[in-house]
Amino acid sequence: MNLIFLGPPGAGKGTQAKVISGEFGYTYMGTGDLLRSLVSKGDPLALKAKEFMDKGELVPDALMVEIVSEQLVNLKKGFILDGFPRTLEQAQILEEMLKGIGVKIDHVIYFDLSDREAEKRLSNRYQCKDCGNIYNSNLGQCPKCGGALFRRKDDEPETIRKRLEVYHRQTAPLLDFYEKKGILRRVEAQGTVEEISKRIRSILGHGEN
Ligand code: AP5
Repeated sequence: MNLIFLGPPGAGKGTQAKVISGEFGYTYMGTGDLLRSLVSKGDPLALKAKEFMDKGELVPDALMVEIVSEQLVNLKKGFILDGFPRTLEQAQILEEMLKGIGVKIDHVIYFDLSDREAEKRLSNRYQCKDCGNIYNSNLGQCPKCGGALFRRKDDEPETIRKRLEVYHRQTAPLLDFYEKKGILRRVEAQGTVEEISKRIRSILGHGEN
C-alpha cells in the first residue's frame, strides 16, 4: 500500500509512521526529518529551507519540490509519505510525478486532533538525535539506542501556534482535495499510541476480528 499521513503538527504522524512502516515494511519518507537531516549535513538548499522552518512557516513549494523530487521519483512501492504534500500545489505535483512512475496512493490517513492537544504534545516532545525515535517526556537518553534527546527549535510556544495557523490555512484544504478523490480516511488521533495504531491497521485491512 502507498499511504499519505496528513494532519496538524503534533497529531502523532511521525510516531505512527515509524510504528506502521516498521510493522509492514513500508518505506518511510518524512519530509521534516529529511530536511533536518540535510540541514545537519550543511546542504545549501536545506539551509535555505531552515529559515522558514525555524519561523514555523512552510518551505516555499518550488524549493520544497527541488529538495524532495529525487526521493519521490525513486520511491519504491509500499511507502508512507509523512509531511508531503502540504499544499494544493504540492498535491498536484505529487499526483503528476506518481502518475509518471505508475504509482497510486491507496489511502490518505487524516489524523484528527484538536489544536489544544497538539500544542500540549509538542510542548513535551523529545527526539533522539541518533535514531530519531520520538518521546513525550525527557528521559535523559534514548531508551532504544542510548542517544542524546533534544527538543526541536520549532517546538517553542509561539512557533507551535504559528505552525498550527499555517496548517489550517495552507494544508487543511487538502482534506477536501483527497475526500473528493475518495481516498481520505479519518482517524481519531486522541488516545494512546497503541489505540491509534490499531485504528490505522484496521483501515489497512489488518484489524482484529
Ligand atoms: P515536520 O517535521 O513534518 O513537522 P509537523 O508536520 O509540524 O509534524 P510534527 O513532526 O511536529 O508532528 P507529528 O504529527 O509527526 O507528531 P509526533 O509523532 O512527533 O515539519 C517541520 C517543518 O518542515 C515544517 O514546519 C515546514 O517548515 C517544513 N516542511 C516539512 N515538510 C514540508 C512540506 N511538504 N512543504 C513545506 N514545508 C515543509 O508526536 C508529537 C508528540 O506527541 C511527541 O512527543 C509524541 O511522543 C507524542 N505523541 C504521539 N502520539 C501520541 C499519543 N497517541 N498520545 C500522547 N502523545 C503522543
